[in-house]
Amino acid sequence: MGKTTNKHRPIRKSRDWTSLALIFGSLFSLLVAGCAYLDSIRERFYVFDPVFLNSLARDAVTTHGNATDSIVKHILSNLTQTYAVAENEQPRVALQTEITPEHWVMSNAGGAMGAMLIIHASITEYLIIFGTPLGTEGHTGRHTADDYFNILVGHQWAFSAGALEKEVYGPGSVHFLPRGTVKQYKMHEGCFALEYARGWIPPMLPFGLADVFFSTLDIPSFYDTVRITARETIRNLLIGKV
Ligand SMILES: *[C@@H]1O[C@H](CO)[C@@H](O)[C@H](O)[C@H]1NC(C)=O
Ligand SMILES: *[C@@H]1O[C@H](CO)[C@@H](O)[C@H](O)[C@H]1NC(C)=O
Repeated sequence: MGKTTNKHRPIRKSRDWTSLALIFGSLFSLLVAGCAYLDSIRERFYVFDPVFLNSLARDAVTTHGNATDSIVKHILSNLTQTYAVAENEQPRVALQTEITPEHWVMSNAGGAMGAMLIIHASITEYLIIFGTPLGTEGHTGRHTADDYFNILVGHQWAFSAGALEKEVYGPGSVHFLPRGTVKQYKMHEGCFALEYARGWIPPMLPFGLADVFFSTLDIPSFYDTVRITARETIRNLLIGKV
């Protein structure tokens, strides 16, 4: 009896491990294939157009010069009208267009600090105004979304490893950062931008929030960021905008 058990046990064990590895392997392959498929159709979910947003930013800058407040109001009012719908129609997109001070939240990420006004958030896109009257500098983060940073007021400098000259972006220009790439950037005094990201937004959130846990311990700003982002993402999901 004892002899037989001893003989068979190792065989059965290795069989168990083999089937377990097969199951995990298959599940993992399915997951990878699912992600690759979703990634291949991500453009279907996009609501905004980077070319339109840049012409809106340029118009606002041309009309209002360096008056940040009027520029932001111009952008919000245009977005509201552009994406407005007739009564009783399904909204085309959920936008947060309130601009009172309590709608701005502090953001610390990659060593840079500024305030942001979250206009739109979904699984595949976000649109914010980001900037600081003081200036700031940091790491862009390596992201799963393309980033279009439309300068509204002031100047931003940037460079990627290997470049020995800086890139300079002024009002109306767009600093494009393709997903997966990183740069060091510096926003000078009084620099504000309309930032549009498209791709996969949820994997970007840890970068945007890590500094709360490892540096600032600014729980109220963390709470507001998560609350507004979650609320806007859910509002968009409910109207079928992923
Ligand atoms: C919004 O801005 C775009 C781009 O500048 C412009 O073509 C369009 O006419 C504006 N729409 C409204 C309602 O102001
Ligand atoms: C904004 O523009 C006005 C008029 O061109 C100029 O007088 C003022 O110094 C500028 N302000 C800043 C902060 O650049």
